[in-house]
Amino acid sequence: MYKIRPVEHKDCLDIFNLSNDPAVRKISLSDKEINYSDHLKWFEKVLADRNILFYAITIDEKLAAQVRFKLMENIAEISISVSETFRGAGYSRTIMEDAIILLKENTAVKTIRAVVRKSNSRSINYFYKCGYTLKFEQKLNDIDCLILEYKIRG
Ligand SMILES: CC(C)(COP(=O)(O)OP(=O)(O)OC[C@H]1O[C@@H](n2cnc3c(N)ncnc32)[C@H](O)[C@@H]1OP(=O)(O)O)[C@@H](O)C(=O)NCCC(=O)NCCS
Repeated sequence: MYKIRPVEHKDCLDIFNLSNDPAVRKISLSDKEINYSDHLKWFEKVLADRNILFYAITIDEKLAAQVRFKLMENIAEISISVSETFRGAGYSRTIMEDAIILLKENTAVKTIRAVVRKSNSRSINYFYKCGYTLKFEQKLNDIDCLILEYKIRG
């Protein structure tokens, strides 16, 4: 069964494994492998941060994806990753729709922003399919990135 819910402390290891997935590291803006003690510190900080909404998507109780929104005034920056087992299976658009419903319910944010490596064509296609539009290009950590946005309210 498919479920979306806020991330809890018990998800720490599953989120670690998802974040360290080679495909996820490769497209991330920092591609170094993460060690568990750094992850633990980061995880606790993110859970305590009131400007971050962090959701887990589970399928039959297994972590299938994570979605994080970092709130900055009227903009929420999104980070999304689907675990390898569930990638390419067509869940990703439902996940986006459900995460947006939760973002709308819990904040007054107007726009979602995605920062994606220019070389990450799979993810760029995905955001276009979800209705995002290209706003500008930017070099971040010396990496060419695209900035895409999606308006959730006027
Ligand atoms: C980006 C991501 C969330 C998409 O989820 P997914 O399960 O792979 O995507 P789906 O199979 O549901 O496909 C959704 C759309 O993505 C695009 N897509 C999927 N696989 C693709 C591929 N191999 N090549 C190019 N585009 C692809 C297509 O546009 C597809 O729509 P379509 O099926 O109507 O053609 C997932 O691949 C992922 O977690 N990637 C690693 C992390 C990441 O890149 N996150 C985004 C940066 S924040």
